[in-house]
Amino acid sequence: MAPPTPPILNGHSETVIAQTCQTYNLTPSEFAQLRDRAVAAKATSYSPYSKFRVGAVLLSNGKVDAVTGERSSSEGTYTPGANVENASYPVTTCAERVAFGRAITEGHRGFKAVAVATDISPPASPCGMCRQFIREFCELSMPILMFDKDENFSVLRLEDLLPLSFGPDQMGIEGAA
Ligand code: THU
Repeated sequence: MAPPTPPILNGHSETVIAQTCQTYNLTPSEFAQLRDRAVAAKATSYSPYSKFRVGAVLLSNGKVDAVTGERSSSEGTYTPGANVENASYPVTTCAERVAFGRAITEGHRGFKAVAVATDISPPASPCGMCRQFIREFCELSMPILMFDKDENFSVLRLEDLLPLSFGPDQMGIEGAA
């Protein structure tokens, strides 16, 4: 049986935001930043073919130095991305993978949440390829916030979007989460 469709929640209601933050271990300020930055990232989309804009933002809490391998913790960093299309359609890269490519190569590790924003409703969820890409770097319990055209949202954990997943642990490594 297919899993139930998640409810669409009011993305500007203080009560809803407070409840969501409690469930997913975020602060109301982090929630607002994730919402506003995902929407802002959407405006940077290069999508002349589909005209389907997608913005993504990743909230991370630490970095690894490329030279020394040293881990440092930081207050919370937001890394944006948007979909980048190509005349050769399959070459297109989704917003989520653009954002993760940037964040990982900047050294970010330890992701607290991912947010995506589109111009449709109900909200769009990350494609299958992006779910697998995210799986490489994040805990299965990490929340993925999906904002619709009106900045209302649904939220699911990575393990709900990608059940029975294959990841670094199956390959015998600890992984980057
Ligand atoms: N797209 C994303 O950026 N993320 C997704 O998870 C779904 C699809 C983009 C790819 C393409 O530029 C456009 O949306 C239409 O498929």
